[in-house]
Amino acid sequence: MRIDVLTLFPEMFAGPLDHSIVGRARKQGILEIRLVNIRDFATDKHRQVDDTPYGGGPGMVMKPEPIYAAAEAVAGPRRLPWEENGPEAEGGPGQAHVILLDPQGVPFTQAKAWELAAKEHLVLICGHYEGVDERVRAIVDEELSIGDYVLTGGELAAMVVIDAVCRLLPGALGEAESARQESFEGFVLDHPHYTRPFEFRGMKVPEILLSGHHEEIRRWRRREALKRTLERRPDLLEKAPLSEEDRRMLAELRAARGETAQ
Ligand code: ADE
Repeated sequence: MRIDVLTLFPEMFAGPLDHSIVGRARKQGILEIRLVNIRDFATDKHRQVDDTPYGGGPGMVMKPEPIYAAAEAVAGPRRLPWEENGPEAEGGPGQAHVILLDPQGVPFTQAKAWELAAKEHLVLICGHYEGVDERVRAIVDEELSIGDYVLTGGELAAMVVIDAVCRLLPGALGEAESARQESFEGFVLDHPHYTRPFEFRGMKVPEILLSGHHEEIRRWRRREALKRTLERRPDLLEKAPLSEEDRRMLAELRAARGETAQ
C-alpha cells in the first residue's frame, strides 16, 4: 500500500512512523509512506499557504490552490463532481482514495480501518489553522474524524489512521501478533493479561491461568472480556455477534450485577 500525506508539518511524522510495527512494515516494503509538504506547491513568492477568511473573523484559512496542486501531483488529476469530461476521480484500480482529516468528518472506526486497508493508494490531507477552504472538500472522497475533540491539526489524526490501517496489511504483524487481531473486531473488549512475576505488590495472577486447562482458561478469558465490555462499553454489545455461550455468560454476569436478563 502507498500512503501520501499532505501536510504543512512533515517533521511531525518522524518518530511515530519510523518505529515498531509501522517502521517494520515500511522497511519490508509492505507500506510506502511519502510526506508531501503542501508549502512546496504554493506558487506565489511568499509561498503563502493560508489567508484571512472572507467575511472576516479570527484565524487563517488554508488556501485551496496549494492543496489541489499537491493532491493532483500525487493522485493525478481529479474530476470534480460537476465536471463531465475530466479524468476519472475515484473508483478504478490504482486510483487514489483521498481523505481529509477533519473533526467534521465521519468517525474513524475499526470497520473503516479494514475498508481503507483494502485500498492500494491513500492520500491523507491534514488541515490546519481555522480549517481548510471549503472548496478543498470537492476533491476528497471522504472526511474522517478520529474523535469528538479538536486537535491543532490533522497530523496526529493521520498518524492514528496510518497506524490502525498498517497493522491490518497482510504481513505487517508477525504470527503471534496476528493471533491477537480479533480483540476489538468482534465488538468485545480484551480480556486481562498477566506475565511474570506471579505476585507483584501483593497482586497475584489468577490461579486459573496457571492451571494448564486450556478450555477453562479460554472460558475464563471470554467471561472476563464480556464482563469488562458490560462494565465499560455496554453499547458495543448491541452490535457484537454473540454465541450461545456468550449470551449465557452475559445473563450470569447481569444477574450477578442485579440486572434482569434481556
Ligand atoms: N483535525 C482536528 N481535529 C481532528 C479530529 N478530531 N479528527 C480528525 N482531524 C482533526
